[in-house]
Amino acid sequence: MESLSGKTAVVTGAGSGMGRAFAERFGRAGMNVVLADVEAPKLDETVAALTAAGVPAIGVVTDVTDGAAVDRLRDAAIERFGRVHVLCNNAGVAGSGPSGGNFVNEAEWRWVLEVNLWGVIHGHRAFLPHLVGHGDGHIVNTASMAGHFPGHSAYSASKWAVVAITEGLFHDPRLRAAGVGVSCLCPGWVDTAIADSARNRPEWAAPERGVEPTPMEEAMVAYVRDQLRSGMAPGAVADLVHDAILANRFWIFTDMQMVAALRPRLDAVLAAENPPQLGPGV
Ligand SMILES: NC(=O)c1ccc[n+]([C@@H]2O[C@H](COP(=O)([O-])OP(=O)(O)OC[C@H]3O[C@@H](n4cnc5c(N)ncnc54)[C@H](O)[C@@H]3O)[C@@H](O)[C@H]2O)c1
Repeated sequence: MESLSGKTAVVTGAGSGMGRAFAERFGRAGMNVVLADVEAPKLDETVAALTAAGVPAIGVVTDVTDGAAVDRLRDAAIERFGRVHVLCNNAGVAGSGPSGGNFVNEAEWRWVLEVNLWGVIHGHRAFLPHLVGHGDGHIVNTASMAGHFPGHSAYSASKWAVVAITEGLFHDPRLRAAGVGVSCLCPGWVDTAIADSARNRPEWAAPERGVEPTPMEEAMVAYVRDQLRSGMAPGAVADLVHDAILANRFWIFTDMQMVAALRPRLDAVLAAENPPQLGPGV
């Protein structure tokens, strides 16, 4: 897109962390902002702060796992501002529930895939016809470096899938013809509330009673919290997203050292060798 001022952005997961920072950054760029989140109090607080700063903003409580709710989000945005130009499919949760040593915790896998993958799929279904219809648009999907590092986890599976479908979308002839841009955001560690995702865990995905975390899981949770605390500020990621939309750049990486750490895996794939052990992704 050549300019953002006066245009409209929809951001999911906008009540906290990166989503909130995107909304603030778009507001500073002169955009109207439609904020969506499942956590109503945080959403209200963020909308109030933006409105107080003079940004035309509305909040729409939205659970991105619910396709009809994502349709209502699109309708509310169009009703208030006429058109949507930028869509950030950003809402996400990190599954870190205890497995009790089982290979798969089914409730956790369903929840994480519903939010992180189906949330993006619903966003595509609900918004892409509108963006393609008017042609002045850009979509940013928040994946993760976990979408590049292998991992036997729901989070990893969800983020690999988001990378794959976002890259596929980049080549979609309908978006190309209409001039709609696509970016895939793959952050490294960012200082947000993602480690406390369980605050939004619905009843249907409640962890099984009596299942305890393994010592390895406990150590992993502590490691993740530590890395997040020393991670990048969400506002710095928002600057990268803002710039990528204007430059029509597909990849948005925040940590090029992590990207470089992928090389042994890519080399092994090219040589059809067994995969080397890599450090943990995000
Ligand atoms: N923080 C990191 O280090 C990091 C790294 C890579 C990728 N990510 C990704 O960044 C995105 C944003 O996460 P964050 O780090 O800002 O964490 P965060 O927890 O601060 O923000 C996530 C937001 O998503 C919302 N949300 C959760 N479930 C939802 C649902 N069903 N419907 C709508 N909203 C929902 C939460 O209420 C919250 O406001 C996520 O997709 C996450 O996977 C984060």
